This record gives sequence, structure tokens and C-alpha cells, in this order.
Amino acid sequence: MDFKELITARKSIRKYESGIDHEALVNILKEARRAPSWKNQQTARCYAVETPETLEEFRAAVLPSFNRNSSAKAALIVTTYVKGNVGFNDGTPVNEIGNGWGAYDLGLHDAYLILAAKNAGYDTLIMGIRDGDAIRARLGIPENEEIMSVIAIGKAAEEPAARPRKELDEVVKFF
Ligand SMILES: Cc1cc2nc3c(=O)[nH]c(=O)nc-3n(C[C@H](O)[C@H](O)[C@H](O)COP(=O)(O)O)c2cc1C
Repeated sequence: MDFKELITARKSIRKYESGIDHEALVNILKEARRAPSWKNQQTARCYAVETPETLEEFRAAVLPSFNRNSSAKAALIVTTYVKGNVGFNDGTPVNEIGNGWGAYDLGLHDAYLILAAKNAGYDTLIMGIRDGDAIRARLGIPENEEIMSVIAIGKAAEEPAARPRKELDEVVKFF
């Protein structure tokens, strides 16, 4: 897909007709790794929950009802980053942002992921409202990883209108 078309076509989808097959998911996860990262540290981590049996229980345990309903039938990707690495030199933060740089890198990674998904014919919903402790316990995620989002991925069953964006002069200053 042409890039402009791709970024215009991508929208958060809250109704799915189906999930994604394993091979397509693997390709999208591979493409997401092309995202830039601090000193190429690549501290983003993904935990893909894709089998129907696992998904049912997992979705019910880790998502509030509105996100559970929005992501029904979709597969789920939990994204985390390894803490204390990006933005640190020998364990000391290089500036005031500290672990925020890990979150920054993961955001870039996840942006690549959702665009790669759209390009492959799949839609996504990033969900920041989720139960981190329940996710950690179920997937055995180590304590040195910060759990950020759960991303629903699958075939859309709705075509929402584009959500509005602020005017450029509200969010950008030129000097
Ligand atoms: C970090 C982050 C967390 C989000 N969490 C949720 C969520 O928990 N539930 C939800 O329905 N949408 C969530 N969204 C989706 C946003 O509401 C959505 O991206 C925004 O309204 C713009 O719409 P668009 O993605 O269709 O352009 C989240 C988005 C981001 C980037």
C-alpha cells in the first residue's frame, strides 16, 4: 500500500470478524523489528496470544469489559520493554527521561507494528487499559520488563470514520 494511503487507512478497530493466522502474524512481528531504537538496543518484547483456547481465558482475565468486547475474536499481542537499558549508561540514566526512553522505543516499535499489520490487510487496537499484574502472572513476564500495551489484531468487521486530528498550528511551532 502507498504510504499516505496506509497512514490514512489505519484506524483503531473495535469490532473484529476474525483473528490472524500464525504466518501473517510472524511476518508483521518481523517487520515491526525494523523500528529504530536507542543505540539499536531493541528492547521491545512481544507476547502473542493467538490460540482460541488461550485467548478466551486471557482476554477475560486481563481486559476490562469494554476492551474485552472491542477485541472479541481478535488475537492479542502484549508489548513490553526491558527496563534499565535504553537511556542508561552502566546503570545510570543519561538524562532526566530514564526509563521513559524504553517506552519511547516501544512506542516506535508498536507504531511500526500497527502499520505493518494494516499493510498486510489486518487491523489493530492498542489498549492501554489492561491489568498488568494479571498479564505478568499469566504469561510469566519477568519483572525487568515494563508491560505497556495489549494490541488486538485481526480482520475488521467495521469501517469507522477517521477520528479528527488537531490543526497543525495547535501542535507544531515553527522557529
Ligand atoms: C497508548 C494508547 C492507549 C490506548 N488505549 C486504548 C484503550 O484502552 N481502549 C481503546 O478502545 N482505545 C485505546 N486507544 C486507541 C485510541 O483511542 C485511538 O488511537 C485514538 O482515539 C485515535 O483513533 P484512531 O486510532 O482510529 O486514529 C489507545 C491508543 C494508544 C496510542
